[in-house]
Amino acid sequence: MGLYWTRKILAGVRLKPAKRMKGIPPSSTLKVLGLAKELERQGKDIIHMEVGEPDFDTPAHIKRAAEEALARGMTKYTPSAGLPELREAITEHLTTKGVTTTTKNVIVTPGAKHAIFCAMVAALDPGDEVIIPSPCWTYEPIVLVVGAKPVFVEATQADEFKVRAEKVQEALTKKTKMILINYPNNPTGAVMQQGDLRPIVDLAIDHDLWVLSDEIYDCLVYEGKHVSVLSLPNMAERTIYVNGFSKAYAMTGWRLGYAVAPVELITEMNKVQQASTSCVAGFVQAAGVAALRGPQDCVREMRDEYRKRRDAIVNGLNSIEGFECTKPAGAFYAFPSIKKLGVSSLNLCEFLLREASVAAVQGSGFGPYGEGHVRFSYATSMENIEKAIDRTKEAVKKL
Ligand SMILES: Cc1ncc(COP(=O)(O)O)c(C=O)c1O
Repeated sequence: MGLYWTRKILAGVRLKPAKRMKGIPPSSTLKVLGLAKELERQGKDIIHMEVGEPDFDTPAHIKRAAEEALARGMTKYTPSAGLPELREAITEHLTTKGVTTTTKNVIVTPGAKHAIFCAMVAALDPGDEVIIPSPCWTYEPIVLVVGAKPVFVEATQADEFKVRAEKVQEALTKKTKMILINYPNNPTGAVMQQGDLRPIVDLAIDHDLWVLSDEIYDCLVYEGKHVSVLSLPNMAERTIYVNGFSKAYAMTGWRLGYAVAPVELITEMNKVQQASTSCVAGFVQAAGVAALRGPQDCVREMRDEYRKRRDAIVNGLNSIEGFECTKPAGAFYAFPSIKKLGVSSLNLCEFLLREASVAAVQGSGFGPYGEGHVRFSYATSMENIEKAIDRTKEAVKKL
């Protein structure tokens, strides 16, 4: 090989990923899934309780709407903010949650996650602080990618994992730009009632902050009533409401979500969408219209089944030595304390995977206040739940 090419190849070795990526953690759920899949390849019968994905199939009428859209030739780019018909269906659907808004306030995105990404890029400057109650879902990488700073506040089990306004107040600084809340919550299943939310949103109003409210589990509330932050007085001008189809209609793989925000912010979020994904596939949006405008019995039926599973898993977990599980009011996760076992949540999850072939997620993957807990998703069959409890009970005896 000539000197010229040797020099060229050596020069290439200097190429490194951006410095920004160094501090960005990979998804903890996907890490467990990777190990579980590896054990499965080795022939182990793994019970998957790590992934937050409904085990139900997408309802038939929704799939049919996509098929019909494809047959009509809906295979082209669509308007970047979403099809007018879907944006309209979203505004109509929101009236059932006490929210009045307009289609101009809505952007349709490939999944709720991308709505959160667009919102953060559009709303945050580098150095801005985002208050996030923890235990929390994986918002941190998105905040870090845009150069902002996550500031975690603890939501304790003693408070049923509802964040208290005093904690939020203590975390406020001149740099705070946003409070991010997620109720029903992943991973704790906590639900905030109107009285719980009021003091938090009052802080946002007093300090002129955005509230990003991720309400993707609003369809899964078993105790009390879901109250949308967007339905509260004076909140429309500072709320970035995020929702999607993944959980309510068992549509995780379709990648369909949306955000509602002030028009000025939607315009900026739309620029982010134009610069990244362009738009959501038209036939997927047609399925979204069918989901929102079609019969809602499927949502109720899935919720009723999740409720039964929740009761079974909570009872089961509480029957295991060292586990303490409060009854989650929403979503499809149980988040028991494992503090009495005296092991870290990561060690316990690895132990359960190898010893019991049960995959769950370590609490430490849910922000700084998740340690001491393990998340079990009960979006799986009753039979799997019972098997997982039996196996976990036996395995824990060997600790
Ligand atoms: C709290 C929360 N928000 C958002 C999402 C992302 O949903 P989507 O599939 O619509 O991107 C999830 C998915 O697990 C979630 O748990």
